[in-house]
Amino acid sequence: MKKSLIYRIIRVTLITLVAIQFLPVDRSVPEYEKENDFILNSKLNDQYKSLVRNACYDCHSYQTNYPWYSKVAPISFSIQGHVNEGREHLNFSKWESYTSSDKEKMLDEAAEKIREGEMPLTGYRWLHKEARLSDLEKKELVDALRALR
Ligand code: HEC
Repeated sequence: MKKSLIYRIIRVTLITLVAIQFLPVDRSVPEYEKENDFILNSKLNDQYKSLVRNACYDCHSYQTNYPWYSKVAPISFSIQGHVNEGREHLNFSKWESYTSSDKEKMLDEAAEKIREGEMPLTGYRWLHKEARLSDLEKKELVDALRALR
């Protein structure tokens, strides 16, 4: 390849990367009842509460912590997509507003996803040490979530 072509490709790539930083990402949350929070109301013991907080709340509640790289496009698009989708399926910030049968279903599914190692998502586990559950923690958390039904 001619040198000038390589330079042109690099330049276009850099310009694109800079330009997409200006595309807006909506990280706003609606007004919500703080009292409906799962952890606030749950009978789980404190250890399991922190496991759920550390491993699930970034995508499954309105209390998302955004590390610096989550603000860098194009990663930011993908991360916000996961957050939006996660909240749609299960939002711990809205827990007490769910019906008892929905709660039961979600506790079941949550336990199942943890047992199978599908949740938290793999990419998230790479980046968040505190979200990597040991086999024992998984087992205990699964049992604890099932016991809440
Ligand atoms: C990085 C974001 C992220 C984290 C962290 C995360 N989830 Fe999810 N979760 C998602 C997304 C995205 C979906 C929807 C797509 C899917 O089912 O894979 C989802 C779906 C779910 C569902 C619904 C499954 C279904 O079939 O309807 C449950 C239950 C769930 N997650 C539980 C959990 C639990 C419990 C944790 C913590 C141990 C957790 N998730 C951590 C992103 C996340």
